[in-house]
Amino acid sequence: MSKVKTFYQCQACGYSSPKWLGKCPDCGAWNTMVEEKSSPATRHSAQAPLYKPQPLSSISGGKEQRVTTGMNELDRVLGGGIVDGSVILVGGDPGIGKSTLLIQTGANFSERAGKVLYVSGEESPEQIKLRADRLSIHSDNVVLLPETNLEGIIQTAASLSPGLIIIDSIQTMYTEELTSAPGSVGQVRECAAKLMSFAKRSQIPLFLIGHVTKEGAIAGPRVLEHIVDTVLYFEGERGHAYRILRTVKNRFGSTNEIGVFQMTDSGLLPIENPSELFLSERPQNVSGSTVVASMEGTRPLLIELQALVSPTTFGMPRRTCIGVDFNRVNLLVAVLEKIAGLHLGGMDIFVNVVGGIKIVEPAVDMGVVAAVASSLREIPIHPRTVLFGEVGLSGEIRAVSQVDSRVKEAAKIGFERAILSKTNSARLKDSHGLEIIGASNVEEFLEVIFG
Ligand code: TYD
Ligand code: MG
Repeated sequence: MSKVKTFYQCQACGYSSPKWLGKCPDCGAWNTMVEEKSSPATRHSAQAPLYKPQPLSSISGGKEQRVTTGMNELDRVLGGGIVDGSVILVGGDPGIGKSTLLIQTGANFSERAGKVLYVSGEESPEQIKLRADRLSIHSDNVVLLPETNLEGIIQTAASLSPGLIIIDSIQTMYTEELTSAPGSVGQVRECAAKLMSFAKRSQIPLFLIGHVTKEGAIAGPRVLEHIVDTVLYFEGERGHAYRILRTVKNRFGSTNEIGVFQMTDSGLLPIENPSELFLSERPQNVSGSTVVASMEGTRPLLIELQALVSPTTFGMPRRTCIGVDFNRVNLLVAVLEKIAGLHLGGMDIFVNVVGGIKIVEPAVDMGVVAAVASSLREIPIHPRTVLFGEVGLSGEIRAVSQVDSRVKEAAKIGFERAILSKTNSARLKDSHGLEIIGASNVEEFLEVIFG
């Protein structure tokens, strides 16, 4: 194979140079030069176009074929299973459990849909065998390939034609066409593009593992997000056993879905009923603790939210938030001060979502307001009360979506009372046996909880 010519191109302005440069001489940006393949300039330009436009109705759209992974939690984030020929990127911090998740998936898959090719550039077959023993995986249908050369991998995959390919990790792979080191932006992107075109041609689904670097963007899976079909992020706090698999992008399903797992001695255990788990260690009758019904994609989750309010010992009060947006909490504290007349100026405020979960939706607002007020006044909130609703700057409580699923989930776990916005409560058709209380503003709401 003749060596392909390459050059370095600034990703910010397009300046190209035959050599790598730290700073682009044209736009002055640092670290933006990435190795690219120089391709012949003549591309069908003088020929007739390859494709003709066709009416949408004339295209026969067969339903995509999905194969279940054998793990409900993973199927959910994928939108119902693995689609033939799809490329799925699984990103996450090192050591979070990506290899464990995918070798388990591989083993499950091999039981129902043929061979699985597990390509590892990070660990030796012996190391993988050790892990497989720990996970009690002894399948003949999982084939290991300790290879990092992309051309070699594609050749092997083409001759083996497995039902699924797992690449662990994309940062260790390299193509001979580029001279830059494995893990560089050029290599990562080129390898992913080649694997993608192989997957589409052969209709073999493919999992790519990608490490997120601390900076996030550079050479991380971020450069791949727009190439692949599905992007999943595997997250969780190191000290916690819970792991959350989150859909960030999905061409074959909805985004924002989550799957919950627990890391155990014998691998990852899917958690079918996460609300119960998150609430299992909840303290009873203490102030500053409340439960919010949050939606993660189509799934309602009941999550405990805690706040601790104490007089500050420094000149400047501290505000610390884990799992909720810092600015959002500051905004709600301001609303509590101004509208509800709570004295929070000289107080340190700590807000924490239990279990290492992050809640991004505004329905958590009422939970933050209640927890902070409860901690300040040292009055516990009724333990069988669930809250959800957005709080506006003038203290009004606004409606949120999917109320019915939230109330239903709360009823399932055994809650007795739900406090939500007036609009939501008026429109709710079925209370599922809960006492439903609608509040239209923060004062009314605090009156209901502490009244
Ligand atoms: P790993 O899958 O190697 O992470 P990644 O591929 O994302 O880098 O998992 C690493 C961690 O998981 C490691 O700290 C050990 C832990 N672990 C368990 O707790 N139980 C298990 O059964 C396995 C296989 C790993
Ligand atoms: Mg790994």
